[in-house]
Amino acid sequence: MLEVHRINKRFSSGGIFKKNYITAVDDVSFSINRGETLGLVGESGCGKTTVGKLVLRLIEPTSGKIIFDGVDVTKLRKKELRKLRPRMQMIFQDPDSSLDPRMKIGDSIAEPFRLRGGLSRRVVGERVSDLVETVGLSPEHVNRYPYQMSGGQNQRVVLARALAANPDFVVADEPTSGLDVSVQAQLLNLMNGVKSDLALTIMFITHDLEVVRYMSDRVAVMYGGKILEVGDTEYLFDHAEHPYTRELLAQQSAEDYYVPEDDVNNGDGGCVFCSRCPFAEEVCKNKEPVMVNIGRDHQVLCHRV
Ligand SMILES: Nc1ncnc2c1ncn2[C@@H]1O[C@H](COP(=O)(O)OP(=O)(O)OP(=O)(O)O)[C@@H](O)[C@H]1O
Ligand SMILES: [Mg+2]
Repeated sequence: MLEVHRINKRFSSGGIFKKNYITAVDDVSFSINRGETLGLVGESGCGKTTVGKLVLRLIEPTSGKIIFDGVDVTKLRKKELRKLRPRMQMIFQDPDSSLDPRMKIGDSIAEPFRLRGGLSRRVVGERVSDLVETVGLSPEHVNRYPYQMSGGQNQRVVLARALAANPDFVVADEPTSGLDVSVQAQLLNLMNGVKSDLALTIMFITHDLEVVRYMSDRVAVMYGGKILEVGDTEYLFDHAEHPYTRELLAQQSAEDYYVPEDDVNNGDGGCVFCSRCPFAEEVCKNKEPVMVNIGRDHQVLCHRV
């Protein structure tokens, strides 16, 4: 469904006299099979959201290639991209910023149908009612405004609106992280149900390993703009090879693990993780590792494997 080949994203960061660059995503490759959920996990600032936006081409990669359902998205012109857009949806962490506060819930959900056009008011109304039911809201919610709803309810609205576009690929960026644990669980269950009913392919971004385990078939672990390890979720939880993945698993949450940027080795040549790695050797400081296959669907970026 999705193949990402060696994407890079550099942001320029101010500087009047001298331009500085932040490499947010550095030579990242991965793929997602149709109907699969890939979890993307890693601590704050490691580049998860940037990868999500890149694969949907909400931002332009500095280099690299993204193939979506056989089409090279990076080469598409605006008009062709616009046609593809509904098939690829992104759900952000904060529902308040993705919903128009002046729009009634029902109108927000109806918007993708209106944009597509060709449907009568009655049909749009029926579709909206169906979606309201699918995401577990009540019919009376359609006449409310976002401020009259809870955070969890609004995130259901965001999900309903994403589904209204009839996507086959969804990037969910920490969609439940602002919510109470019990509400989170309901929403994650809902997403899993919707996913199998609608045969969606999902990239699920989170720093929470418990969530990633519950949601994903495969998981990619990110650090300092790079993917350090990829594999089948259940297998990886028992057989992690990368020292960083092991560290994360010992912590249960990447959020507890925020590291100031200067700890990330973006320097010349070495491994991004070497300044934090308890096992770093001379080679780790001097030479960049390459991704190696160490089993069926298990890849690691480390000199030691
Ligand atoms: N528009 C931008 N301009 C400049 N730098 C940016 C921009 N967007 C992201 N960055 C930088 O790129 C890096 C990766 O950011 P990103 O938002 O992808 O991280 P993240 O893994 O999603 O973090 P979080 O878990 O906090 O959401 C960070 O250093 C960030 O400051
Ligand atoms: Mg993010």
